[in-house]
Amino acid sequence: MDRPTLLCIHGFPLDHTLWAPQVTGLADVARVLAPDLRGFGDDRRPVPDVMTMEAYAADLKDLLDEQGVDRVVLCGLSMGGYVAMAFLAEWPERVAGLVLCNTRANADTPEGRAARQATAQNAFEKGVDVIARAMAPTLLSDRSKRTHPELMAHMEAMIARQRPEAVAAAALGMSERPDRHAVLNGCTVPALVITGSEDALMPLPTSQAMVDALPHGRLVVLPDAGHLTNLEATDAFNDTLRVFLRSLP
Ligand code: MLT
Repeated sequence: MDRPTLLCIHGFPLDHTLWAPQVTGLADVARVLAPDLRGFGDDRRPVPDVMTMEAYAADLKDLLDEQGVDRVVLCGLSMGGYVAMAFLAEWPERVAGLVLCNTRANADTPEGRAARQATAQNAFEKGVDVIARAMAPTLLSDRSKRTHPELMAHMEAMIARQRPEAVAAAALGMSERPDRHAVLNGCTVPALVITGSEDALMPLPTSQAMVDALPHGRLVVLPDAGHLTNLEATDAFNDTLRVFLRSLP
């Protein structure tokens, strides 16, 4: 494959700007697409009450069709990983490689589902800025907070500018997602699972379980990084992706 298309899928409740260091840093090895999921960032399409991971994946498939892109390397972070796995389940023939960052293949627990309902309600009743203040500190490792204090403000601002209806629809959609380990088990293309040693939201065993399910998967744990490995450990993240992209058949 010469210069593959890398489709970067952002997490919750973020937008395409999450991927700025990859859009510029990986342009030499890939055509990098980093769209906003429906309702997030600059996207102004109507948002239904619930956006399932399958619905986001269908939007992305439409985008690839519009752009005339046949096969892509999917790269999803956290909720973006859930969307990547939904895409893989539906259109495996369109996937040339898979990168799952700071994510998991498990479905939500009943407690997790209840928390999603509360998040959806809070988005409307308390406001997304309240969610932003609570969530931003959980995304970064202690070391990132110390060495890159500007990242906290950056993430808080990114979350606070999202529309409540997009945040609520995504939260409810995530609560409906199924377990995807069987989908990973059927994945025939090379796969990378990347996580941060200090990711407080996705503990290491969830990444290990995905690697164990993937027939051609490899685990990369970036030291001192939290939930946002692409931002907190940009150089190591981009180097890992560059090697992976160049290794694809
Ligand atoms: C994300 O970063 O996308 C979320 O933490 C995913 C989730 O809430 O399960």
